Amino acid sequence: MIRIAIDGPSGGGKSTLAKRIARETGIIYVDTGALYRTIGYFVRSRGIAKEEAAGAVSLLNEINIELAYEGGRQIVRLNGEDLGDKIREPEISMYASAVSAVPEVREFLLETQRKIARENSVVMDGRDIGTVILPDADVKIFLCASNEERARRRCEELKEKGIEASYEEVLADLNQRDKNDRERDVAPAVAAEDAIHLDNSGLDIDGTYEAAMKIIREKAGDKLPEAEKEEKTEKPKRVRKMSRFYRFMWHIFHGFFKLIYNTRTRGEPEPPADYGPMLVCSNHISATDPIVIGLTMKKHQACFMAKKELFRIPLFNLLIKSLGAYPVDRKVSDVGAVKHTIKILESGGWAAMFPQGTRHPGEDPRNTSLKSGAGMICARTGVDVLPVFIKTKGAKHRMFRRKYVIIGKPIKFEEFGYVHGESGEYARISKMIFDRVCELEDKWDSGYYDKK
Ligand code: DC
Repeated sequence: MIRIAIDGPSGGGKSTLAKRIARETGIIYVDTGALYRTIGYFVRSRGIAKEEAAGAVSLLNEINIELAYEGGRQIVRLNGEDLGDKIREPEISMYASAVSAVPEVREFLLETQRKIARENSVVMDGRDIGTVILPDADVKIFLCASNEERARRRCEELKEKGIEASYEEVLADLNQRDKNDRERDVAPAVAAEDAIHLDNSGLDIDGTYEAAMKIIREKAGDKLPEAEKEEKTEKPKRVRKMSRFYRFMWHIFHGFFKLIYNTRTRGEPEPPADYGPMLVCSNHISATDPIVIGLTMKKHQACFMAKKELFRIPLFNLLIKSLGAYPVDRKVSDVGAVKHTIKILESGGWAAMFPQGTRHPGEDPRNTSLKSGAGMICARTGVDVLPVFIKTKGAKHRMFRRKYVIIGKPIKFEEFGYVHGESGEYARISKMIFDRVCELEDKWDSGYYDKK
């Protein structure tokens, strides 16, 4: 059995996605919004204004809701009657939003939703599936898109059903409903902590489906019904092996630098040697950081950009080259260096870089500005990112002063919800990456990792 939770604001394409997943995998689609709509419908039929939605409580003992499936289609019966598309009208949407903020209504519908998921493999969409209804769901996806895109989709959907509504009205309704759903006290419509965000603004139905299935296969592929287990779209994994020369140099220099830089590796285990391409991103406190990262990785050669001036220092240039460094001219935006990084990743290798661009010793990394290069390289190559935090005892790096290199869990590329062509995406991804880098320091400070 598999339980997939899809949450997110209205008009993000949750139901389209969930229906497609259900159809392709043969599991049941549960549209939980229909339950709230049904109660909204009943409340309106009693002449109660939507501002008085709390009045729904007194009506609950008159309501019997049944969830049934006929020919794979969900049917919600209100006191025995199938309301069909009557619950889809814009007026009912506002009633549904109003009644959904009433705790007793949510409580009333809780067991109906949990029961269906106990007895069947389900893909369930709503607002609180991952947080309240199925907190142990195998996969949690938080699906969203820009407000304008969502309003446009909603208009088309209504038009297909023969319901006329103006774009402005739909957009205003949607904003209002989002606000209600997000800000209500009970089960607010927010993403579960362990949900994977998928922004489908620039994706069509196929693109959204493929992105979601990739997440599902990775998280719980073994629980999918047989037919869908086979990975249909998975690209062959590219793995670039460490060169013998690098391995040799690593062993020669490792002990020496570990001693003078006094490094200790902490956090999560290093991903396996056959992980595939990875962009390692770290905070930047010292010119020695690339070497420290290189020495920390035992199973991978993490290549990195280094300012071109360093390649003029005799012997030192040999060392950094052997560790996989390549020159970057920091006075210009060095397209060649970026292309080189992309090439390394495309051939299955690992590259390390610093989203902060330049060094910021002794500063709180959260207050430093970020460059969008890391986001850009990540978006262009579609690789996962390994966050790393370098923590010194004392504010600044000093020779022999203890340094901890805290390794995080890889961030799957899909988690970025990258939308091709949307402005600001590179900067947004860089920020997401760097937030995860800084989270490692928070975890460290809270004692989550071994500090010895
Ligand atoms: O998904 P929808 O538009 O059909 O949902 C109708 C309303 O019900 C929406 O305003 C939010 C609410 N809802 C909810 O609070 N929790 C759910 N699990 C599903 C819907």
